[in-house]
Amino acid sequence: MTAQISALNGTAETDPASPVTARPVIAKPGGPLRGTVKVPGDKSISHRAVMFGGLAVGETRILDVLTGEDVVRTAEAFRALGASVDMEADGSWRVRGVGIGGLTEPANVLDMGNSGTAARLLLGVLAGHGITAFLTGDGSLRKRPMNRVTVPLALMGAQFTTRSGGRLPLAITGKDEPVPIEYELPVASAQVKSAVLLAGLAARGATTVIEPQATRDHTERLLRHFGATVTVEELETGGRRITVTGQPELTAPKQPIRVPADPSSAGFPVVAALIAEGSEISLPSIGLNETRTGLYTSLQEMGADIVIANRRDEGGEPVGDFTVKTSALKGIEVPPERAPSMIDEYPILAVAAAYAEGKTVMRGIHELRVKESDRLAAVAALLRENGVTVEDGDDWMIVHGTGGSNGQGVPGGGTVETHLDHRIAMSALVLGHAAQNPVRIDDGNAIGTSFPGFIELMNGLGADISTD
Ligand code: S3P
Repeated sequence: MTAQISALNGTAETDPASPVTARPVIAKPGGPLRGTVKVPGDKSISHRAVMFGGLAVGETRILDVLTGEDVVRTAEAFRALGASVDMEADGSWRVRGVGIGGLTEPANVLDMGNSGTAARLLLGVLAGHGITAFLTGDGSLRKRPMNRVTVPLALMGAQFTTRSGGRLPLAITGKDEPVPIEYELPVASAQVKSAVLLAGLAARGATTVIEPQATRDHTERLLRHFGATVTVEELETGGRRITVTGQPELTAPKQPIRVPADPSSAGFPVVAALIAEGSEISLPSIGLNETRTGLYTSLQEMGADIVIANRRDEGGEPVGDFTVKTSALKGIEVPPERAPSMIDEYPILAVAAAYAEGKTVMRGIHELRVKESDRLAAVAALLRENGVTVEDGDDWMIVHGTGGSNGQGVPGGGTVETHLDHRIAMSALVLGHAAQNPVRIDDGNAIGTSFPGFIELMNGLGADISTD
């Protein structure tokens, strides 16, 4: 028995004419967190597994795929482009692809919801197809810059009409055989790197991306898994030079792809356990790709008791099992060069920092301003609203911790604006669990984009989070 994957559960607002009703949520101060929980599949890998399956010849099976709204948007877009994506009764996904260059013109606008990854990677794929498509997104995605991908993709021959500032909605007309380029990324972005490499799949010859700092490399790993030739040269500067050979035959892997649990999503229960007295939790099969684990390096430097056992490889990605115990944290200075490996984790690191002794300094984080919200501003507001002292500037933030022997803890009591940003919403609820007073968020709908079942999972561990 299979089902088409279209069950959007009404998460982030998309159509301004019929916005989804806001769902305020409250986290009441709670006790210790205890138990073993399974964190949903990695968002970045889930998007890519569906996309590459849609471009491959044959049938790809994917296990533990994230069923959050972001990945459902990718699945729906690929269905609208001629691939087939179905969910089996056992929860696995089955993707039947059309081969590189085989996607067909969609009859309607492709709505990418809240997902920058879905939108930007899809633009790379479409740049290698001689068809026209129209893309839009929700109120958050329509504010985010798309010119970081349209600029290199235009060099490869794609044509774009965008809203002012290079924003969605936009129209793209791709090319069946785009021009292979060598492109040096102006910002450390795995989405831009991936968009260029995906367009390069349709080009004749080699397409190269030079990245100033290593960013998550799931595209490189998974493309190889589907049979593409991707070479990676480590540069002395810490960056990488990545080359894809165009026009390979992508083939569905014989074995199902098992998606590791998302290390970014795991950050929320991990930090909650670190800051809630008397906690001990276990999280199996968390992705440990070193381009993603900066949060855990930082937390361990702060004194976090996180034990990672049973390190192994699953489907070309390293994973391990976490055990986390409440810890007395100390503030640190996070090295700016660590930013790409924890770019989505600054909001939850800032929550940990609020409970630490001393100050935590985060620099080189300008990219936070162009995420699902302006996260630098949103995190500073989240903490201040709940009685934590924060200093911030264009690309830096300093959180003054409330912990230590003289610390009073985080007062809480505030209401946090989430700006359609799942990570701001979850960070605020984690802050509230260990605070002296409840913390409210204006809207919990966006949580479903990356972490369906977050509230139930946290309550299963002992939290007290409910609709307000
Ligand atoms: C992602 C890359 C990162 C990250 C995003 C997912 C990806 O964005 O913030 O959540 O899957 O490639 P940038 O590429 O903009 O850094």
